[in-house]
Amino acid sequence: MLRFTMPVTLQHHVQQHHGAELASVIQAIAEASVLIERSLRTAALSDILGAQGSTNVQGEQQQKLDVLANDLLTEVMRQHPAVAAAISEEDEDAIVFTGKRDAAFVAIYDPLDGSSNIDVNVNVGTIVSIQRVASGIEPTAAALQAGSAQAGALYVNYGPATMLVYTAGRGTHSFTLSNGEYLLSTEGLTIPPQGPYYSVNEGNADDFPADIRDYLQSLRSGGLFGTRYGARYIGSFIADLHRTLLKGGVFLYPPTVKAPNGKLRLLYEANPLAMLVEQAGGMAVTVPMAGMPAERILDLLPQALHQRTTLAIGGPVEIGALPARATRHLVA
Ligand code: AHG
Ligand code: MN
Ligand code: MN
Repeated sequence: MLRFTMPVTLQHHVQQHHGAELASVIQAIAEASVLIERSLRTAALSDILGAQGSTNVQGEQQQKLDVLANDLLTEVMRQHPAVAAAISEEDEDAIVFTGKRDAAFVAIYDPLDGSSNIDVNVNVGTIVSIQRVASGIEPTAAALQAGSAQAGALYVNYGPATMLVYTAGRGTHSFTLSNGEYLLSTEGLTIPPQGPYYSVNEGNADDFPADIRDYLQSLRSGGLFGTRYGARYIGSFIADLHRTLLKGGVFLYPPTVKAPNGKLRLLYEANPLAMLVEQAGGMAVTVPMAGMPAERILDLLPQALHQRTTLAIGGPVEIGALPARATRHLVA
């Protein structure tokens, strides 16, 4: 007899494990991602590639698709009854939605991650962090909670397949887009304890603290674990992270001269992906200058919406082998 198991949809999965309200917020974000995905697929035919001609709060050239993705996602969040405010990489201030003072969540996002890769048809993504708004708390204050308080986190990886990976604190699960619907592909993703790759922008290597350069050299030479690591760097955080989550290894964005506090933003890049990786058995820590203590990303108390952080994220073996920073005062 033919055995046919009904595919599990994203909304059903979230509802089953985390309740209807969070499920409907995540479903709304998923639906926005389907619209973003559609515009990406034919961008080259509709003159929406290239620069917008404006810069965002980060002082970065906005791409037309950054703005389009941001407008789409923000409009969907504005219309959702359970979302009180949106904080976006593309907007300096929080967008507090009128008439939704008691809404349960704030959405904090990077609408299009990997913008430098859009025009060359390399994976880009959308990253969303969801924080609860306790009663009487301002939405912006809710957004500035530590990453450990996140109600949920997800990214969409627009690649050969469009995949959405989410967690709401009970494991990390991946879904694949099929005919406009996200269907469960892997429940309970676990990062391999040790992987074959390290992932860092080697172009910045001369800036890295000396002990981080030594750490990378020992991965290359096999000195650290006896096996020589390969290097992979796509330049879209979600793509490098997705490969690290599935294959194992470590992604690093150490301090550089240009970005002494790291480049990646804490609220909508490091925190959501740190929650996803921890829920899959991995770790995410800061990579401070030598002599400063490394901290767990999810324990950091944000001071500003767009603050940046250094980062090492990946399997427990590679993160556990990072040079201990607190005790040794190393010459940088
Ligand atoms: P965004 O496009 O949202 O600004 O993010 C780009 C980030 C991240 O996706 C990636 O890992 C990193 O920038 C790459 O930075 P470098 O080019 O400095 O390596
Ligand atoms: Mn980004
Ligand atoms: Mn972005």
